[in-house]
Amino acid sequence: MPVFRITEGVYSVGVPDWDRRLFDELIPLPDGTSYNSYLVRGTEKTALIDTVHAPKLGALLSNLEKAGVGRLDYIVSNHSEGDHSGCIPKMLELYPEARVVTNEKCKELLMDSLMIHEDRFTVIGDGDALELGGKTLEFMITPWVHWPDTMLTYLRQDRILFTCDLFGSHLSPLNPLEPMPEMVERAAKRYYAEIMMPFRAVIRKHMERIRRLDVWMVAPSHGPVHAPPDRIFQLYEDWISDRVKNEVVIPYVSMYGDTLAMVERLAEALVSRGVHVKLFNLTRTDIGELAMALVDAATVVIGSPTVLAGPHPSALYAAALMNALRPKTRFVTVIGSYGWGGKTVEVIKEMTANIRAEFIDPVIVKGYPRNDDRSIEVLAERIAKKHEEIGILKA
Ligand code: FEO
Repeated sequence: MPVFRITEGVYSVGVPDWDRRLFDELIPLPDGTSYNSYLVRGTEKTALIDTVHAPKLGALLSNLEKAGVGRLDYIVSNHSEGDHSGCIPKMLELYPEARVVTNEKCKELLMDSLMIHEDRFTVIGDGDALELGGKTLEFMITPWVHWPDTMLTYLRQDRILFTCDLFGSHLSPLNPLEPMPEMVERAAKRYYAEIMMPFRAVIRKHMERIRRLDVWMVAPSHGPVHAPPDRIFQLYEDWISDRVKNEVVIPYVSMYGDTLAMVERLAEALVSRGVHVKLFNLTRTDIGELAMALVDAATVVIGSPTVLAGPHPSALYAAALMNALRPKTRFVTVIGSYGWGGKTVEVIKEMTANIRAEFIDPVIVKGYPRNDDRSIEVLAERIAKKHEEIGILKA
């Protein structure tokens, strides 16, 4: 891949991975991803900001060669996860003078996972600066903006903020400097949902600091850069806010159509009351799409039959995922059909406890939902009322 010049002395030397289809053995990547790495050359020193996924080492080295890098003084590690740090051990062999510049927590994790010797590190703290000669890197330690080791690096003279995973997207542009406005907002939302949403409150705290910086370009380590960054900042501020939309997300699974009949009746009853509905059949949905829908929906209704005395395993998976992602959902409930009893509601309620949403009375029906049983319509009415009460549905 070519090397792209961002500005005088600053280059994009990362590697796209358009063919990758799964991240963390969990998250589907419909558009692949990229591992962005940035080279900053001062008059005295040269720094590389983040490396790439280990299998892409050859492409990174080739880019450094194209950029004419003979000596590398610093490898700044903003975050220790392997997709950005995987090449560091080999780079330290190839560039014996290079030092890994990072915070104390990231150093610890890099030593644990990559067996990098302690002598190779320069540990920095929040607000510290590293002079390269006409280029100054400043560090902002942002623990739990994803991992406890996370930090951002700000290039003062060029007003570029290197954010690693924050503001990233799983896209694989060959040129990360090329604007992709038609794709990036959706991809950034999906990325936020899958990776950043559990840390909403922490991001909110750091967003205030980021807003105080004079930033011309946000350069994340996945997907395209954002220049100017105003739009991505606005999007994040919306996603991390407490504002929810007049939407009900219904992840469901149905074995013989009984639960599906309830789901369809509920969806119809909600839509007729002015509430937007998004349906996800858990046997075939892309979980990234489901995660994205959870970013701002006011309500989630999990639809599950009772199987072996509890929720269907696909519903359990959805509940566990939601519990881990901790969306700002305000109301949660369960609907489903059962044959002879079980603890479907109790189990799902317990498994979604992290969300801290109000649990609305569930609707559990024996067998097929009868036409004269209006409990589904009562539930729709109750949800619409809740949406009215919080001001997202006009009466
Ligand atoms: Fe892109 Fe948390 O690694």
